[in-house]
Amino acid sequence: MTTSTPATSSKKVFFTGGAGFIGMHVVPLLLERGYDVKIFDNMSRGDRLAVNEYMSSGKVELVEGDVRYGGAVASAMRGCSHVIHFATVSINKSVADPYESIDINMTGNNNVFAAAADQGVERLVFASTASVYGDPERLPMHEDDTLRPLTPYCITKRAGEDLLGFYQRTKGLSWVANRFFNVYGPGQKLDAYYTSVINTFIQRIRSGQPPTIDGKGEQSMDFVHVHDLAKGVVASLECEAENFPVNIGTGVDTSVAQLAKILIQALGSDVEPIFRPRDVLVSRRAADITRAKELLGWEPTITVEEGMSELVKAAIES
Ligand SMILES: NC(=O)c1ccc[n+]([C@@H]2O[C@H](COP(=O)([O-])OP(=O)(O)OC[C@H]3O[C@@H](n4cnc5c(N)ncnc54)[C@H](O)[C@@H]3O)[C@@H](O)[C@H]2O)c1
Repeated sequence: MTTSTPATSSKKVFFTGGAGFIGMHVVPLLLERGYDVKIFDNMSRGDRLAVNEYMSSGKVELVEGDVRYGGAVASAMRGCSHVIHFATVSINKSVADPYESIDINMTGNNNVFAAAADQGVERLVFASTASVYGDPERLPMHEDDTLRPLTPYCITKRAGEDLLGFYQRTKGLSWVANRFFNVYGPGQKLDAYYTSVINTFIQRIRSGQPPTIDGKGEQSMDFVHVHDLAKGVVASLECEAENFPVNIGTGVDTSVAQLAKILIQALGSDVEPIFRPRDVLVSRRAADITRAKELLGWEPTITVEEGMSELVKAAIES
């Protein structure tokens, strides 16, 4: 249900956290669709070189600011027709420092949502996470399943979705919350909570060492390539349907043992993974993407084998 005509140049996206890993893959798609982009980012993890390149197009500007400051957010948002809210403190940092996480993720969410509601933007897209489900009751995970967020980060993401409902009811805010599954692809950070296992395996296999796996490697993830995911974000900005959370994953759960095999093959190595006997809490993930197909007209196109081969190629060339 996405609109087929490109947006006019009077459309401008206010993009918090837009200088980060996923943001830098969404920005070029927004430019292709005819939007101007105002990135609002404190650059704590932003990619300054990549932002500078986009800025040379004359269609992208960077406001260095912190979402914790509501006045700065509201004034920078003025004149923007759409909002994408990505600025966040990541899951691992939120466990180590819940205070900072609550501050940035809760106060920041409210500042961005309140300003968007006050300024009557056309649509706000919020980066939520598959981690709002906690340990899933069943696979695939459906948007209407019970949410049991476990860490401050996940709790703030769930609260963010609820807060969007508040501004929808009180001020008519139009929103879509994307529940991203395990995002990977070029530019991903080495310390990413779930996907760091990919980088660890690639490094070990490249140096001739076998990947080591705790237990039987049955724990699984739903790896979604950042190029596919970025298209889902833009579809969420433009779809007719509004005010709902939606899974952005692939529906395929790849176990850690399968991932090791895929990477060994992609690197053309003949090492065998080492399984360390350990009691491992086996968590599994796979998204039900029926809603994304129906309401966003979106579905992933890159298989995990293709995406991982591309990553491996890039790692070899770098
Ligand atoms: N990468 C994943 O696997 C994944 C999975 C689920 C959800 N998400 C969500 O997607 C969004 C983007 O993730 P990412 O992987 O690109 O993360 P990232 O860390 O690469 O990007 C986050 C950006 O936010 C900026 N930022 C941090 N604190 C800020 C603050 N107080 N004020 C302004 N800017 C601030 C950082 O400088 C960075 O550029 C996040 O909301 C994240 O929670 C990511």
